[in-house]
Amino acid sequence: KSVKVFAPATVANVACGFDIIGLALDGVGDEMELRLGDTPGVRITAIEGADLPLEAAQNVAGVALLAMLQEYGQPETGIEVVIRKRIQPGSGIGSSAASAAGAVAGANILLGNHFSPEELVPFAMEGERLACGTPHADNVAPAIMGGFTLVRSYQPLDVIRLHTPADLWVTVIHPQIEVKTSDARGILKQQVLLKDAIRQWGNVGALVAGLYREDYQLISRSLEDVIVEPIRAILIPAFYDLKLRCREAGALGGGISGSGPSVFMLSKGEENARNVAAMMEQIYAPLGVDYKIYVSRI
Ligand code: HSE
Repeated sequence: KSVKVFAPATVANVACGFDIIGLALDGVGDEMELRLGDTPGVRITAIEGADLPLEAAQNVAGVALLAMLQEYGQPETGIEVVIRKRIQPGSGIGSSAASAAGAVAGANILLGNHFSPEELVPFAMEGERLACGTPHADNVAPAIMGGFTLVRSYQPLDVIRLHTPADLWVTVIHPQIEVKTSDARGILKQQVLLKDAIRQWGNVGALVAGLYREDYQLISRSLEDVIVEPIRAILIPAFYDLKLRCREAGALGGGISGSGPSVFMLSKGEENARNVAAMMEQIYAPLGVDYKIYVSRI
């Protein structure tokens, strides 16, 4: 018995929701194939498209599966995995999360849906712990559950799937420069000012309300990050130019995708999303930095 899974790319943070909000792209992601094996444990048999370790304990998909099998509690179970990477590691659109999430989602099908999607999230978080040192859930949760997700609490873990407006699109530009998540986290301040916190949680609440009301203008007003973005913006070429001119081109707003270097913009409708892509191209083409652009429904 084998299963093929699509493991979507994701945008974490979504401006105001550092470490708590994420969204999944509809058509961009990795492919994985899993089967039950004869040998107990986890075997990664092949990885195409990226130079990543095959050893389960060193691989984000491997550690997620090991955590899952431990909880499953039947020591004779063996899982074999083939990973076809389409999302470049270090892109800021949840490459490691896609592998970890796809692995546990696929294995769960092989195990007869023993776990609920919510129960799979902590296993996939072990992949993030291996990848960047912090088991954040804002990429793995949307990769497993789809659409928008919110982490209300990490301890205990409480993940909520949110409503996605029917005509919401995302455009992502991935400049081909390396930003390590651990570095992008290392430069953050550990304390925030109360006035910034007030502005940020106002935006988070309003973003969630905007999603449920399908109120695109409210979503637009809420796409603001006064805590993390001002520190990380320096890591991304032409960041403020992108933000300003993409809004002029029809975007509702956006920000850094996860820890960067990708930048995302949300738009109402495909036409706006494509106009935003054209604007991104116009800004980046003269910079001499290679880049990839993705347009996707959420
Ligand atoms: N929330 C995480 C961060 C996502 O911004 O560091 C990393 O992909």
